Amino acid sequence: MKIAVSGKGGTGKTTIAALLARIFMQKGFKVLAIDADPNTTLAFSLGITPEEADKILPISENSNLIEEKTGVKPGSYGSLFRISFQVDDIVQKFSVESPVGVPLLIMGAVRSAGQGCMCPANTLIRALLRHLLTKRKEVVVVDMVAGVEHLGRGTVEYIDVMLIVCEPNLKSLETAKRIFRLSNEMGLRNIFAIGNKVCDDSDEKMIKQYFLKNNIPLLGFIPYDEVIKKTDATGGTVIDISNPTTGVKSIMMIVERLLEKA
Ligand SMILES: Nc1ncnc2c1ncn2[C@@H]1O[C@H](COP(=O)(O)OP(=O)(O)OP(=O)(O)O)[C@@H](O)[C@H]1O
Ligand SMILES: [Mg+2]
Repeated sequence: MKIAVSGKGGTGKTTIAALLARIFMQKGFKVLAIDADPNTTLAFSLGITPEEADKILPISENSNLIEEKTGVKPGSYGSLFRISFQVDDIVQKFSVESPVGVPLLIMGAVRSAGQGCMCPANTLIRALLRHLLTKRKEVVVVDMVAGVEHLGRGTVEYIDVMLIVCEPNLKSLETAKRIFRLSNEMGLRNIFAIGNKVCDDSDEKMIKQYFLKNNIPLLGFIPYDEVIKKTDATGGTVIDISNPTTGVKSIMMIVERLLEKA
């Protein structure tokens, strides 16, 4: 299963992506987490400290790798470069093992083919994404950039499941609707919303009604969870999933629903 986690900024994409990856791993699946947000933070949610995370070079900034694969140094304009090359060695060489055991690959900025950028870096990133989403056997969880601009061919077209995280407020719901429409236009089939940071019944009701009105399937709710909030505030610590809080339990239920649908 190849899962992308999208949504408006700050809704909880990274937190949820990390927990999904860990829960799949706990259930015995082989998992790979991918940070496709140029503002990389998934490492922290997997227990990597900011100091260690700083040392990881995103694939899109790895000039040596880009040159090795495409035959051209990034930034050398006008040069002809290879568009066909092996990428299957990249995961093994460049993924890092996180303290929670989930391997992490940091992609850096990912632009879609529709955005007109055909530079060597993007050619490499897109080839790598295609490989990760079509050829690999493990569960792949991709933490995406906030919003909608990046969505397009060459980025998420091979995803099996698009999860759209929203909060109980109109702005994040409207963003969720746009992501749903774009994903749908791209031909993605399993697109589900998740209502996060839900405080009470009226929050649930608001989200439910919005998605019902817009014909968007809702996979579940995750309550506002103080433990999730507090753990995030301290670097190098992760949420304890062996003793799950209500928030983590809800994500476990979401994993069960995904497994039923897959
Ligand atoms: N269910 C929850 N209960 C309480 N706090 C939450 C919950 N989910 C996420 N948060 C908090 O919300 C904040 C934003 O979460 P996170 O960084 O995962 O969002 P994001 O969508 O990845 O943000 P960005 O768009 O900046 O990448 C964090 O402080 C996180 O701890
Ligand atoms: Mg994030």
